[in-house]
Amino acid sequence: PLIALRPLLDYAAANNFGVAALNVNNMEQIQAIMEAARATQSPAIIQASRGARKYTNDLFLRNLMQAAVELYPEIPIVMHQDHGNSPDTCISAIRMGFTSVMMDGSLEDDGKTPSSYEYNVAVTREVVNVAHRFGVSVEGELGVLGSLEHGMGEKEDGHGAEGKLTLDQLLTDPDQAVDFVNRTGIDALAVAMGTSHGAYKFSRKPSGDVLAMSRIEEIHKKIPNCHLVMHGSSSVPKELCDIINANGGRIKETYGVPVEEIQRGIRAGVRKINVDTDNRLAITGAIRKAFTAKPEEFDPRYYLTPARAAMQAICEERMKQFGQAGHA
Ligand code: G3H
Ligand code: 13P
Ligand code: NA
Ligand code: ZN
Repeated sequence: PLIALRPLLDYAAANNFGVAALNVNNMEQIQAIMEAARATQSPAIIQASRGARKYTNDLFLRNLMQAAVELYPEIPIVMHQDHGNSPDTCISAIRMGFTSVMMDGSLEDDGKTPSSYEYNVAVTREVVNVAHRFGVSVEGELGVLGSLEHGMGEKEDGHGAEGKLTLDQLLTDPDQAVDFVNRTGIDALAVAMGTSHGAYKFSRKPSGDVLAMSRIEEIHKKIPNCHLVMHGSSSVPKELCDIINANGGRIKETYGVPVEEIQRGIRAGVRKINVDTDNRLAITGAIRKAFTAKPEEFDPRYYLTPARAAMQAICEERMKQFGQAGHA
């Protein structure tokens, strides 16, 4: 059944586990997540960006999600709007049947300019007021995702920096987090601690100076009753990049967020972990490999079947690593 985010994360907190929030744009990705959830008996958070809603024209997405709910009746599913840029986007998601929305007020509605704190409070509060009347949960964001290593923020579409940001803007301030949660009434808070979207997060395996997991622990102590969310949490496995590169692709050397750091976060109150890039890499590697193996094939099922299986394997792995397996 479709459920809201809040009760799932409350249950996860009571049982000390985290839940992967996995992005989708098409049928195969939804199938991959649902098969992984069934195989591991996991609850599922399926999320769609604004770009995903545009790509699917909303209506395809809604009906694919409805199919998932009907075909997997034993799995609790959260349908989440990822990075809503305005109250309008979040309210249209609620109308579409989403059970959870992210109001990302850390940026202006252009999705790239860091906003003022008061703007963030106002738009997030506005979304909470509407969403909670409909039993829909709300995730907010405080601080701007971006690489500490590069000293840059990034446009939250993951396509590069808009300009230098200060450390203050990049890292979530624990005292401000208390005020933000009190004034907005959000159910979950996305925090900034050095991760960024996409494949190029770190140029070497990250240590505490570029991945500030200690910041999460400080924040959790101050707001123990608000669930924490980690964005930009792909691990960017070298094996997946190698498959792509061995089959005509070009992914430069790069490092993601090690799973053990995420597990440390889960011990410190992280309940929702956003992963998209790892699945993109898995899908692309499988398709490239299939193309290389049989250049004469042109039935899309020939390459989409292994692509779907490759994403399912990543989803199962994360569901086990984050501890949600067995909790459907
Ligand atoms: O927010 C980042 C997610 O990976 C979604 O990306 O905006 O390209 O759909 P997207
Ligand atoms: P990755 O790019 O690390 O997968 O992060 C995805 C994300 O944060 C979606 O909101
Ligand atoms: Na989100
Ligand atoms: Zn994100």
